Amino acid sequence: MGRTEPVDDWASDFDVLDEEYVRDPFPRWDELRRTCPIARTDRRGRAWLPTTYADVTALAKDVEHFSSSNTSVIDSGEVEETPILTYGLPPITSDPPLHTWTRRLLLPWFSHTRVAGYEPMTRALCRSLVDAHLTDGRADAAADYAQQIPVRVIGAILGIPDELSDTFTGWVRDVLEFADDPQRVERGMWGIGHYLWTRINERRALDGDDLLTYLLHTDVEGRPVDDMVILGMAILTMIAGIDTTWSAIGSSLWHLATHDDDRARLVAEPVLMDTAVEELLRAYAPVTMARAVTTDLEFRGCPMRRGDKVLLNFPAANRDPAAFDRADEVVLDRQENRHVAFGSGIHRCAGSNLARMELRVALEEWLDRVPVFHLAEGSEVTWAGGQVRGPRSLDVVFH
Ligand code: HEM
Repeated sequence: MGRTEPVDDWASDFDVLDEEYVRDPFPRWDELRRTCPIARTDRRGRAWLPTTYADVTALAKDVEHFSSSNTSVIDSGEVEETPILTYGLPPITSDPPLHTWTRRLLLPWFSHTRVAGYEPMTRALCRSLVDAHLTDGRADAAADYAQQIPVRVIGAILGIPDELSDTFTGWVRDVLEFADDPQRVERGMWGIGHYLWTRINERRALDGDDLLTYLLHTDVEGRPVDDMVILGMAILTMIAGIDTTWSAIGSSLWHLATHDDDRARLVAEPVLMDTAVEELLRAYAPVTMARAVTTDLEFRGCPMRRGDKVLLNFPAANRDPAAFDRADEVVLDRQENRHVAFGSGIHRCAGSNLARMELRVALEEWLDRVPVFHLAEGSEVTWAGGQVRGPRSLDVVFH
């Protein structure tokens, strides 16, 4: 990456883009929990980094003092605001009341019943992706597999053709993974925004069963939904479901490629899949969100100022030994697992049923065809970090 200055003191000058931290943040969180459970930085504006389960969940639940008006972990600073997005990306970047009704419109699209309907196509897709590499006996499990799945599934829900999958993946990465590069963020936002705006306009006069058409033809308290709310929601659905799920699938495959005992156990005992999925989500939670402090205040002795950013470090909360036994271990049959990979409070992930289904099916189909696999010798695993953490190249060999 090489985009940041080295850190001397993590308690007062943390950097979520530090190369070593992106690769392996866990020891850093353990140390901070012991020495300074809420770290601070002045890099890219002032921000706070809580590391305990109790603090992260308390912050997530206090929507009065910690607003979702800015949820980006990294502000690029110089990006021109996309002027037409007057309502941001509701519900994720909004506080009540806008949050409440926009979330209500989205939830039915990700209910258990709907998600079950997407499972056969997800399974067929995963199968064909693995099959393409069986003869070679090796694959990049991140780029060739994990990355290919969520974009196609969400594309089906939004009515976006398969052949645009790579373009969309690129745009989503521009927005989430290269958030400190204003040109890339702008390119990604405009790419996604312009494409979806064109599709929204095409659907105005049509009947259809995709999410965009539904939003165009629905009323809230007797009034149609504002076009800019629809556009914001459509962009969010695209952004929220891609990098996140792909990262969760990739990290889970990384774990299984590097932990023979867990891989063999999951193959031998497929009944463990449901608890294993939760445990892998806990241990490798990909998403960190941000909140903007709404007024000068003190939180657990930290003097926070209006406009400071607080990072909702869900991944660190999930590794807190005060909340989980053997917090640093992956326990595939963990029974009690109140992890917060999907967040906590009113913004809790609206797509969690879909994400869980994709992760489960991706692992089942992979393990069914490739029960034994390891990191390819000499290859280097690269990780993305910041808002969403997960492997971006993961060369594995099948044997
Ligand atoms: C493993 C994959 C995923 C993870 C770890 C994840 C994680 C999260 C987290 C932590 C939040 C809370 C945000 C906050 O507190 O500010 C969130 C919100 C959200 N997620 Fe997910 N997500 C995943 C997949 C998905 C998918 C597949 C969708 C479907 C489109 C989705 C849609 C949303 C939406 C719409 C919100 C906003 C909810 C609100 O503000 O009320 N996510 N997600």
